Amino acid sequence: MELNAEVIELSKLAEGKPAAVFPLGLPVLLIRLGAEVFALENRCAHMGCPLAAGKLDGHILRCPCHDWRFDIRNGRFLDAPELAVKTYAVKVKDEKVFIRIP
Ligand code: FES
Repeated sequence: MELNAEVIELSKLAEGKPAAVFPLGLPVLLIRLGAEVFALENRCAHMGCPLAAGKLDGHILRCPCHDWRFDIRNGRFLDAPELAVKTYAVKVKDEKVFIRIP
């Protein structure tokens, strides 16, 4: 079963600034870039550091702990694409951000 969980109002997401949210208790990271919003698990695939404290450069997010870099469009670790953090489908409706939780 899938669930569309309302996460936040779009106006509360600052451009390019990762935001940690907890829909249904899950650690999720949202990033707004222009008209798009990306949602990833807020837990690094290496040792679990919260990625919300990472540095964003375009679509690449660098983990604050040991500098692993992830593409926020698909969650892939750049140096070994077989590793990834989970991503969630995002929908923006009526200025609210929803993510699909499987
Ligand atoms: S925990 Fe993210 S790079 Fe080590």
